[in-house]
Formats: sequence, C-alpha cells, structure tokens
Amino acid sequence: MNRVTQQFAFSKRNPDLPIMGAAYAKTDPDIMPFAYGFPAPQAFPIAAFQEASQSALLLEGTRALQYTGGPGQKQVQAWIAQRSPLRGIKPEEDQLIVTTGSMQAFDMVTRVLTDEGDEVWVESPSFFGTIRSFITNGLNIRSFPIDEDGLCVDELESALQKAEQTGGKMPKLLYIMPNYQNPSGATLSFARREKLAKLALRYNFYILEDDAYVDLSFSGEYLPSVYSFAPKRVVYISTFSKIIAPGVRMGWAIADSQVIERMKLFKSDGYTSVFVQEVVGQMLQKMDYTAHMNRINEMYRSRRDVMVTELRRVFGDQIDFQVPDGGFFLWVRFPEGVNTTEMLTHALECGVSFLDGQNFYLEGVDGTRFARLCYTYCDEESIKKGVAALHEAWRRSHSLR
Ligand SMILES: Cc1ncc(COP(=O)(O)O)c(C=O)c1O
Repeated sequence: MNRVTQQFAFSKRNPDLPIMGAAYAKTDPDIMPFAYGFPAPQAFPIAAFQEASQSALLLEGTRALQYTGGPGQKQVQAWIAQRSPLRGIKPEEDQLIVTTGSMQAFDMVTRVLTDEGDEVWVESPSFFGTIRSFITNGLNIRSFPIDEDGLCVDELESALQKAEQTGGKMPKLLYIMPNYQNPSGATLSFARREKLAKLALRYNFYILEDDAYVDLSFSGEYLPSVYSFAPKRVVYISTFSKIIAPGVRMGWAIADSQVIERMKLFKSDGYTSVFVQEVVGQMLQKMDYTAHMNRINEMYRSRRDVMVTELRRVFGDQIDFQVPDGGFFLWVRFPEGVNTTEMLTHALECGVSFLDGQNFYLEGVDGTRFARLCYTYCDEESIKKGVAALHEAWRRSHSLR
C-alpha cells in the first residue's frame, strides 16, 4: 500500500551539494573544532538575555507573542539606524528591513535583483553560504581573485570593459565581504571601495555588501562602507550573529526603498520573530554595547594571537597567512603539493577539524593548499592542542607522499 514505485522529480533548484558549515562541523569533544565558524560560548550575554526576556514579556508580552507585520520592531530598527552612521550610512525608515539572519537577506536580495541564468560575480575565495543561495537561485557565478587589500578591483574592471566591448554577460550582482572577509580575513582598502562603487554606477550592477564582521575590529578602526559611496547601487547587509548570538537569527538589510519594498514581497516567513526582536531590543537599550564589544574583541584578539604564535612556533615558515585585524578566521596556505582535503582525514584522527580550502572556491579554481581555521570558538588551551594536532596531521599526510 505504502510502497513508492516511481522516482519523484524534485525541483531543479535543489542541486546536489554536500552538507557544509555548522552542520558539517564535528561534535566529537576530543576534536578541537577549528572548522566551526562560531562565536565563543563565553561571548554570549546570558544574564542580559534573561533580564531582557522578562522585560519583553512584562512590558510587551501580548504584542510580542501576537502575529504582526512590517519591517521590524521599532527598538531594533532604531538601534541599527543609530549605529549605521559609523559606516557612513543614514537609513530612512523605508530603507531598512530586519531579517531572519543575514542569510535570509541574501536570498531575498538575490530573488529581487536577479533571474535564473543571470550573472553574479564573487570574490575568490568566498563564503559558501551565500554561494549556495546563488546556486539554488540558478545563477551563473564567476569569481575574481583577492589579495591582502581585498578584491582585485582592476581585474574586475578589465572584465567589465571586455564584457561591454564584446557583448559578453554583465553581472547583475557583485557579492563582497569588505571587512575581515570569510575565509581570508582580508579588508577591502579605501581606494578599492571607492572604485568599486564607481564601477557599479558606471556598469549598472548592484553590490551585495556583506558586513557580518565589521564590529569585530581589534584596532577599533573602520573604513566607510561601499554603500556610503553608491547608496543607489549597494545593498548593505549585516547581522546580530557575531555581536550578540547567532541563535537569535536576526540580521538586516539597508538599501534603496525600491529594493526593500520588493524584498518584503519575498519575506514569506510571516515576520522576523517579534518576540526575539523584543528581547534583543530590550537588551540593546539596557546594555553597555561598547563594553560588551570591547570584552569580546579582547578575548578574540587574544585567541587570534595564541593561534598565530602557535602556528609560527610549530610550523615555522612552512605555512603562510595574513594576520587579520578582526573577524573569526586565519586562512592558512600550506606548501606546494599539500592537499588539505586529504589532510582533513588525518586531522580528524589527530584531534582537530578545519574547513579545507576547496570549499571556498568555484569549480575549476584550485584551493587545495588552503585551510580555514577559526580562532574564536576554542579557548586558548584548546587552540594550542588543536595546532599541535594540525601539525601532526600535516606530518602524517606529508610522510605519505
Ligand atoms: C560572511 C558571512 N556572512 C553571513 C553569515 C551568516 O550570518 P547569519 O547568521 O546572520 O545568517 C556568515 C556566517 O558565518 C558569514 O561568515
């Protein structure tokens, strides 16, 4: 009766992609999880959450638990609007929307700005989470290299010129992470920000500016957003995941009101949780946000330093990497001939996980020498153990060659 006799033709938008990211991370307590792109558990303001949850229920209970609609709760929106000038952004009410994590914003923006078969251009390496959203939306993806100053904008310009001259495909969208890029840690220089904005206006494409890590600046310095140079051609997206907690699933997008209006049409989840917005809103109102961020950044800087020192002590000049001034990751390059995908098997046996470089590149671009190591999640002792395990894994895979 219940036997299935025929294959079902699932949507072609579901490509055959391996599981990645948080779902991929090993949960074995003996494995130091450098693969996790997670905040430190010690970074979560749990007491403030407790108090804010109570206030949200006492003060706004009947509203916070009811169906609702609109762009976002007033307190959260006001907080975002008040902080945005730090990035050179002054959003009006109709230029801002609170989303269920920034991942939802990527998906909505992609659906608003592109059609199946359109071109989206990305950095190489880039964040696989967003790339997946582009793949499931049926886009053609092309990548451009980065260096220590971020995306190589001159190469991008040459490609745009060539496409224009030859009638080639122009991008509808360019996806960038200007601050502490995932995975490389690179920050886009001021001059390149300015030039990118000019290119977007000249060649009429949108920039999707993913600014997830901006407040994790260890020096406390910030460059103006790309949005600030071309507000009509940039969608600026950020998140509470790295500064408060990813479990609240709250992000936001700032863009021209035409774009935000269209994004609302694709927001089919009813609304970003009103209750969670109320809690976060109450918390942001009461907490000393600067002190909170100083505490987190001090912890992360110290963890970064431990990882950098240990890697240098153990590997010497066998590996190289840029030391980022913020964010979550070290992007390590191993010597010629090393394949980090193969090395990962040894690493898991030796007691450490990481994300192998190939995950961050499009097909046909070689990322086999790279590994992304997250320094924020593990405490300092675990980082030391993890680096020792990584060295052992490298030694084992080396001796097998
Ligand atoms: C660059 C970047 N953007 C966005 C996200 C996802 O953020 P959210 O939790 O807001 O969906 C991540 C998470 O790792 C990220 O690294």
